[in-house]
Amino acid sequence: MQATCEAHPNIALVKYWGVRDPERALPFNSSLSVTLDRFRTRTTVRFDPSLKADRVVLNGTEAGPGPRDGVVRFLDRVRSTARVNAFADVDSDNNFPTATGLASSASGFAALAGAASAAAGLALSDRELSRLARFGSGSAARSVFGGFVEWRAGTRADGSDCYAVPLYPARHWPSLVDLVVLVEGAPVKAMRSSEAMQWTVRSSPQYARRQAELPARLAKIRRAIGARDPDRLFPLVMEECDSFREVCETTVPSLDYLTPTSRAVLAGVRELNRKAGRPVAAYTHDAGAHVHVFTLDRHLGRVRSRLAGIPGVERTLTVRPGPDLLFAPPRPGPGGRGRARSSGSR
Ligand code: DP6
Repeated sequence: MQATCEAHPNIALVKYWGVRDPERALPFNSSLSVTLDRFRTRTTVRFDPSLKADRVVLNGTEAGPGPRDGVVRFLDRVRSTARVNAFADVDSDNNFPTATGLASSASGFAALAGAASAAAGLALSDRELSRLARFGSGSAARSVFGGFVEWRAGTRADGSDCYAVPLYPARHWPSLVDLVVLVEGAPVKAMRSSEAMQWTVRSSPQYARRQAELPARLAKIRRAIGARDPDRLFPLVMEECDSFREVCETTVPSLDYLTPTSRAVLAGVRELNRKAGRPVAAYTHDAGAHVHVFTLDRHLGRVRSRLAGIPGVERTLTVRPGPDLLFAPPRPGPGGRGRARSSGSR
């Protein structure tokens, strides 16, 4: 009754922002992301009948009430599906500092979905794992898969058609890089995104227009990735990020995730593109102050030196499309390589 699983965070190129059914954790819109190679969460879950309560250790320290409650609620869901009564020992660590504000809930809940379900004896397919992971964090539904991933919102009321699907594997576009620009003084998130987004749904006058635009934008982004076409992809990624930021800023009360340094990074990317006379880079950010800048290997030196020189930029990290959820040791099954996909149907 023990299993270990590794998952990687992802950065959304089309943002999930709005829940149509909180009970079933169903989003209003489909989203699309890139799973990242360099950062990972590794989680071990052990169900043990002798335990008197769940024990949750995050990065070597007993979790505080907020994060612990989220994990316990998630374990309850797994226990009721698997008809397991025992409490669990959960040990999870990130190879990146959680406090930097880099997405950890996506990799965290994807790894927990894998480890908890396997430890409870559930043999879930990748698709079922994606369905389960979204109950911890919406974006975790996408971290079950590596490479370029679409989380389909679906239309059914029961959520049975709401899950992530892999679009292209990590190796699809080897020259694409994500330069993660870490800014100094990034504020720690005051509110979970899943809560903040509902303020936007209720109060932003721009939300309905954004939702109407999204299906066409997502289809164009998917096609531009398929064609490995930066000239089409990069402007669309920035358009989507600007639309996301607009609905956040017009939320009442306004959601402002950026610092002046983040804004200078966005301006730096616009200037690089203007000077090059074509899109050489694209910025995007989530509900936080750090900025992800997509570019190609051949532009990386120029993009990095322009952005690293901006006052308030603490560090830049080069990240690439990363792998699927990994079971360690591998789950039994054909090949048994430890990849989620090698042992289950999609
Ligand atoms: C802006 O699903 O990560 O990153 O778990 O409450 O933090 P919480 O919500 P989560 O929200 C993701 C919001 C986003 C966009 C995205 O990743 O699609």
